Amino acid sequence: MKESQLKELLESLTLEEKICQLVQLSGDFYAADAMAVGPQQKLGISEKVVDNAGSILNVLGADKIRRIQSEYLEKSRHKIPLLFMSDIIYGYRTIYPIPLGLGATWNPELVKECSRLTAKEACAAGAHVTFAPMVDLVRDARWGRCMESTGEDTYLNCQFAKAMVEGLQGELKPGEGIASCVKHFAAYGGAEAGREYNTVDMSERRLREEYLPSYRAAVDAGCEMVMTSFNTVDEIPATGNRWLMDQVLRKEWGFDGVIITDYAAIQEMTAHGVAADDREAARLAIEAGVDIDMKTPCYANQLKPLIEDGEISEELVDKAVWRILKLKNKLGLFEDPYRAASAEREKELLVCDRHRAQARKAAGEALVLLKNENHILPLKKKGQKIALVGPYSDSSNLIGLWAVHGKTEDVVTIKAAMEEVLEPGTLSCAQGCGMLEDYAFLGGFARAEKSGEKPLSKEQAEAELAKALEAVRNADVVVMTLGEHMMQSGEGGSRTDIRLPEIQRRFFDRITAEGKPVVLIVFNGRPLVLTEESQKAAAVLEAWYPGTEGGHAIADVLFGEVNPSGRLTMSFPRTVGQAPLYYNGFNTGRPVKTSIHSGRFMSKYLDCPNDPLYSFGYGLSYHETAYSDLTVSAASFTSGEKLTVSVNVKNTGVVAGLETVQLYLRDLVGSVVRPVKELKGFQKIWLEAGEKKTVSFTIGEELLKFHTKDMSFCAEPGKFQVFVGKNAEDVLEGEFEFQ
Ligand code: GLC
Repeated sequence: MKESQLKELLESLTLEEKICQLVQLSGDFYAADAMAVGPQQKLGISEKVVDNAGSILNVLGADKIRRIQSEYLEKSRHKIPLLFMSDIIYGYRTIYPIPLGLGATWNPELVKECSRLTAKEACAAGAHVTFAPMVDLVRDARWGRCMESTGEDTYLNCQFAKAMVEGLQGELKPGEGIASCVKHFAAYGGAEAGREYNTVDMSERRLREEYLPSYRAAVDAGCEMVMTSFNTVDEIPATGNRWLMDQVLRKEWGFDGVIITDYAAIQEMTAHGVAADDREAARLAIEAGVDIDMKTPCYANQLKPLIEDGEISEELVDKAVWRILKLKNKLGLFEDPYRAASAEREKELLVCDRHRAQARKAAGEALVLLKNENHILPLKKKGQKIALVGPYSDSSNLIGLWAVHGKTEDVVTIKAAMEEVLEPGTLSCAQGCGMLEDYAFLGGFARAEKSGEKPLSKEQAEAELAKALEAVRNADVVVMTLGEHMMQSGEGGSRTDIRLPEIQRRFFDRITAEGKPVVLIVFNGRPLVLTEESQKAAAVLEAWYPGTEGGHAIADVLFGEVNPSGRLTMSFPRTVGQAPLYYNGFNTGRPVKTSIHSGRFMSKYLDCPNDPLYSFGYGLSYHETAYSDLTVSAASFTSGEKLTVSVNVKNTGVVAGLETVQLYLRDLVGSVVRPVKELKGFQKIWLEAGEKKTVSFTIGEELLKFHTKDMSFCAEPGKFQVFVGKNAEDVLEGEFEFQ
């Protein structure tokens, strides 16, 4: 529709119709089986609002959305189509690894392709907008939503934010691209103590320097929507935070797209205590520039009286409606309200071989080999008896909590994948123990009930253990599959003890006591504390929740079809007491390694080293590499100039593989303290066995900029250290000066 026609349409709307465009409801209002949480009917809104709401949440499926859209338009006076929005975070029906795993690929191009294929499936199913990418910076492994993030580094998160937005949206062609909604703006991952929905409080400098850039990267990549976060920013809930939404997002960043709240976040401002009631909450949100009210009655019931009482101007509503109409127009909804949703295309695309192949590739690059003593991996396909034990051995629960539209029946299990490649009689499999002893924590969450899991009875547990011991005693090597329950991470999944579930730790000890070499494969939505297991297992493979093709990808790595190349994007602590733990912290005045003080009087603990069990950027492969000859092209450079840092990387192993060469910088003296190391570049390269490549990085002033003492964003003259290596710890060093 032409913009002039859109303007006319806006002018033709009544105030009530305009307000309804700002309301998002769930599918159960439209007799659809949505993933609605809670009895929305009690929302206390009129039937008229239901008939005129602007968008709908988490209802998808071509036939379903076609029915809802046509019934809606039939009733509608203004004929403005509904926007269908949904959580399509790491796959629609074909599920890729959780984002913490996608981040571990260090391969934005690969992830962009995963996003592109996801968008195609989602379009077929009638999605217009997805609430992704989630780009929250995470540093506290206790937080359940680490699983949705690509990790603890600002620079790396920016690369993935851009890749996911570009992959999901493309040119926003019907059938190809869906609008992306970057979330959760802002700094939701900074929840104190890793406790879900907890207070976030930090300096503006830290916010701007470390937490905001990934949202900015998504906005600069053209994301069409931004979702407000539940938390406070500077003690004002983000959803009513005018400085954040208007000054930063709209004025400084030039974002003129749609702002939607997170689930019920407007009404929650009364719980936060910045609004006395729904009316005040609605005023705060609309004045902050929030366009869509997700799942509360605040806008629906309060905006009209606020306007009639002269407390807010109708112009605020007009601006919000205009942004929503522009998005609907950009998506072509006025020309085709169904936007290529098609049951035939669903049959053709959903979990098709091409998408499965992409999921297998992505999962293969997401796996992180953390330990491989005596090269026990890769395993042999012949002449080696393998015992596969543990609750994940034949489990289809490999897709994680936020695979809203994924189906576990599509998942290839590890057992099935291993049986595909092994001679009969080579593999013996036993669950061995339950996933958990107590499922009460699941709290009746709909999907938990559906998971159908429940504790093993005493007899079942004894029988399973006996079966596992039998398998282990007859095997040459044990593959043990342990992990958190998939409901122990994701939203509402904060934990204070981030070890493996106790029942599984007991099983691990019992099985390792048999003395056979153990390959431990771990399934989790956060860094777990694996300190004990890492000592006893011969090999440790981090699998995250690897997705629909997880079993195939794990078998590919176990038997050497794929040489593991994953590298961690979150530090793994030795104990939960270290949280929050991240590589790019400040040196402090009493750093352990170089302090003028000694003994207890340094920045450390009495009972644990400061460093992580596994560092940011860490991961092993089946080949080894040697880094040498780091050179810096000039001792110094000034504004407008650049210098080159080069290093030789040799594959000293006997198999070819991928290597992620990482570049870090340290600004030795700044007008404010500066991180001991910051990732500023990486290159993932292929090396044949014995091959050596020279890898170069260009460094210019842009890479040195930060928020200085007076909050200007610029580079300051001074000395810098440069590090290049295979992870944040194992690096070659150089230096240069910026003048
Ligand atoms: C949830 C999540 C958000 C999601 C939204 C819609 O509470 O915080 O990430 O997109 O509600 O389901």
